[in-house]
Amino acid sequence: MMRFTLSLLLSAIFTTAAAAQPAGAADIGADVYNRACKMCHGTGMMQAPRFGDRDAWAARITRGRDAMLESTLNGFNRMPARGGCAACSDDELVSALDYLLDHSR
Ligand code: HEC
Repeated sequence: MMRFTLSLLLSAIFTTAAAAQPAGAADIGADVYNRACKMCHGTGMMQAPRFGDRDAWAARITRGRDAMLESTLNGFNRMPARGGCAACSDDELVSALDYLLDHSR
């Protein structure tokens, strides 16, 4: 019984460690989105267009990815510049934006 519990515990730890490893751009995007954008775009807080809400994103996406990137980096109305993430690099913000858009069109 003891051994069984221990191996369960160890496999849980290894699974968590593997999940925390950034494996590619999509994972970085998801990670940055979760840290910097989800607070508003996951909930619709401050009327932010919600993640996965195609209707809310359709008109914005028509303006083009460059316009979306411009808004991400410099802000747009109540959307704060860089999503408020001063520590995020441009590359991280691009990945987060692509993750958000890819799941919302
Ligand atoms: C503090 C809340 C908040 C956070 C955090 C936030 N956003 Fe937003 N975002 C908004 C709101 C509110 C709008 C809608 C602005 C409007 O249309 O008036 C918006 C709109 C946008 C738009 C559309 C802008 C346009 O030109 O139509 C993009 C793209 C976007 N956010 C990307 C992001 C990304 C990427 C992140 C994370 C790096 C992020 N946002 C973090 C609140 C937030």
